[in-house]
Amino acid sequence: MITLGIETSCDETAVAVVEDGFHVRANLIARQEHLHERFGGVVPEVAARAHVEALNPLLDQALHEAGVGFRSLDGVAVTVGPGLVGALLVGMAAAKAISLSTGAPLIGVNHLEGHVWANFLAHGEPDPPYVALVVSGGHTMLVHIPEVHRHEVLGQTLDDAAGEAFDKVARLLGLGFPGGPALDALATQGDPGAVRFPRAMADSGDLDFSMSGLKTAVLRYLRAEQAAEHVVSLPDVAASFQEAIVDVQVAKTVAAAKERDVDTVLLGGGVVANTRLRERMAEEGARAGLRILFPPLELCTDNAAMIAAVGAARLGRGERSSLDIGADPNLRLAP
Ligand code: KG4
Ligand code: ZN
Repeated sequence: MITLGIETSCDETAVAVVEDGFHVRANLIARQEHLHERFGGVVPEVAARAHVEALNPLLDQALHEAGVGFRSLDGVAVTVGPGLVGALLVGMAAAKAISLSTGAPLIGVNHLEGHVWANFLAHGEPDPPYVALVVSGGHTMLVHIPEVHRHEVLGQTLDDAAGEAFDKVARLLGLGFPGGPALDALATQGDPGAVRFPRAMADSGDLDFSMSGLKTAVLRYLRAEQAAEHVVSLPDVAASFQEAIVDVQVAKTVAAAKERDVDTVLLGGGVVANTRLRERMAEEGARAGLRILFPPLELCTDNAAMIAAVGAARLGRGERSSLDIGADPNLRLAP
């Protein structure tokens, strides 16, 4: 069974071809960071236009790499939300056209479920239940998954997403956009204990997160040090900020797994590419007797292979989306 995956929810145009749900035959991404860099963030209209330009050649290339034609497709999976509405619509229009012209069934996929499923492409599908931590540019949430395709959100961020916090602090440190990877690299040269930034909501007793106070704390620290004419070590600030975020995420994820009595934890989303988060999750997870799974780097950040994987599973259960399905910028995980 050959499933085509299309993902255009934010600023990556991505197309993948996946065989039998888990075997990736092609996984291509056209990035547009260079278009958004000078604005310091993703500009929705610019993103949508860039998807229009990138998508058709990328589709041809992915099918070519996978060695299949449009007629060999058994299903077309596309991200329908959450994301930027104009960007989502570009991928959805293409997916609908392909479905209509080839007869391959269409299946709309939730981007967040895709981030969870990226793990299965790499590790196979363990038996549920699991707890998943989804940390991306737009989301930070802990989810209990009692059975496949069922989700119970245990907690989420009350303000900024983790990736957003990385990007904003990276900007304060003059690291460009998107800042997560640059901050990660800089932090490897710094001392995570150099500055004690607040661990927001670490002791809140629930599984929610808050990031905006941490960002403000970094800003205040930089201003105070500059006012005092101290030389600021940017690697130390980067490492200390990162440690504060990672501390809370690790503690809450382990707490969620204990609370729900699961032994498998899945990590997904762009921030899971973070070196320190992977390291600390693996350490603390092992200490707590948990099996911690995370995707390889290229499947952490946005990609279409994860969308095709979810789509293939849903099609396999007999699910179909109708051709008039709409984009949902605020789509939630199905309970
Ligand atoms: O999942 P993703 O590719 O897109 C969304 O669905 O939002 O996540 C992108 C986010 C960005 O905020 C980016 O800065 C962050 O993931 N990110 C990282 C790293 N790589 C990407 N954050 C921290 N460390 C990284 N190595
Ligand atoms: Zn994402």
